[in-house]
Amino acid sequence: MANLAVSIENLNFKNPIFVSAGDPTLTAKLAIKSIETGVGAVVLKTCSKHEEEYIVTRATRGFPDKFVEKGNFMNLSPGIAFKTPQEEAAMIKDIMPIAKKENCVVIASIGAPARAWDEWEEMAKLMEEAGADAIEIMMCCPVPMVPGLGAEGATEENLRDILKVIKKAVKIPLIMKTSETHSFFLRQFARGIKDGGGDAWHVQAHVNTPVVDIDTGELMCPDVAGWGRPQRGIGVETALVTSTLVEIPILSTGGVYDWRSVVERLMAGATLVGIHSEITYKGFEILHKAIKGLEDFLDQKGYKGVQDIIGKAVPCIDPEWKKKWFVTHAVPKEKVYIAVDEKKCTGCGLCFNCIFDGIYLDKVTNKAKLDLEKCERCGRCVSLCPKDAIIMQLK
Ligand SMILES: Cc1cc2nc3c(=O)[nH]c(=O)nc-3n(C[C@H](O)[C@H](O)[C@H](O)COP(=O)(O)O)c2cc1C
Ligand code: SF4
Ligand code: SF4
Repeated sequence: MANLAVSIENLNFKNPIFVSAGDPTLTAKLAIKSIETGVGAVVLKTCSKHEEEYIVTRATRGFPDKFVEKGNFMNLSPGIAFKTPQEEAAMIKDIMPIAKKENCVVIASIGAPARAWDEWEEMAKLMEEAGADAIEIMMCCPVPMVPGLGAEGATEENLRDILKVIKKAVKIPLIMKTSETHSFFLRQFARGIKDGGGDAWHVQAHVNTPVVDIDTGELMCPDVAGWGRPQRGIGVETALVTSTLVEIPILSTGGVYDWRSVVERLMAGATLVGIHSEITYKGFEILHKAIKGLEDFLDQKGYKGVQDIIGKAVPCIDPEWKKKWFVTHAVPKEKVYIAVDEKKCTGCGLCFNCIFDGIYLDKVTNKAKLDLEKCERCGRCVSLCPKDAIIMQLK
């Protein structure tokens, strides 16, 4: 069986999947549910001395179905407000025996205005004393309520100085969590994290994906619509870029929802892959499935372990590789073979609205039929067919 283990500094994770800070780790009961799914780590809901300044946002209106379909479902909950540091410490003490039994790493998460040095130091010490295995420094939250807290306070200098202050106060590994996705900022953050001596970097992919409520003309969830599946592509991109900027391990969240997206994120350079929204959407069961799916994938493909796939896709961001790709993939359509496998085709019609009129229903056989003159070999029907009934390959 493939080896799923990964590590950060002296911390060993039995597998690379973790539950990211938020609702699924809001209380001890929920954190235990997360741990019992078999994940490698849980990051607890962020604590802060400023919890009372946060609005407990509860959604008050329905979202259109399409919004849910995109995976950008209503996700405003008590989880938006932080816990107090004392609550977090008590929670760590409660869950630690179970986490030890399950061999699950427990990561505390702390948040403070960027230059509130005493607060960082005090909270970090409290988390270490309570028994946390590592600390995540929350500089990612895009909800702008307390000046300098979360994404608003994330600058190269602040990341560096916060790490330096906490490094002096505690011995456990420190993970810096940010949410910028643009490479301009990522380069600056990378310098700050390197200079501050961070042990790992959690890059949460967050770009706003707003939806307009067409009944009122107002935005739904201004500033916070940006978690879950719509972040998948930008999550991959962010992992690819950051893994080339630093030597330390990358933790990646944003749009991961099943074992395939876990594999994809590992190949994009992440050492640990986190899930949040999909758990709140479909339940804790998806974590079992993701771990099992990852294991089966590695076994079927003959990989010895997760280490074999981490960063496999990273060389592809090299401009030379991209150039080569376009050259090797640009071929005249006559050189591309395409055919419908009639045994597999059910005549469902999903592929029929080809804009080149390249595929249509054969009324005699009731199966899809190609018009090879008109078909441009764009591959759209191949991706759409639920039965894998259309074969396209180089001749
Ligand atoms: C309701 C909610 C609460 C969250 N709370 C926190 C938090 O307290 N601390 C934190 O670092 N991230 C928090 N996050 C961010 C998640 O940990 C995660 O990085 C992000 O949702 C992207 O992953 P996903 O696409 O799987 O949801 C929260 C996200 C949501 C939607
Ligand atoms: S999902 Fe659960 S907590 Fe959220 S509104 Fe529905 S019943 Fe309430
Ligand atoms: S989508 Fe696939 S199964 Fe459906 S008609 Fe087209 S080829 Fe046949």
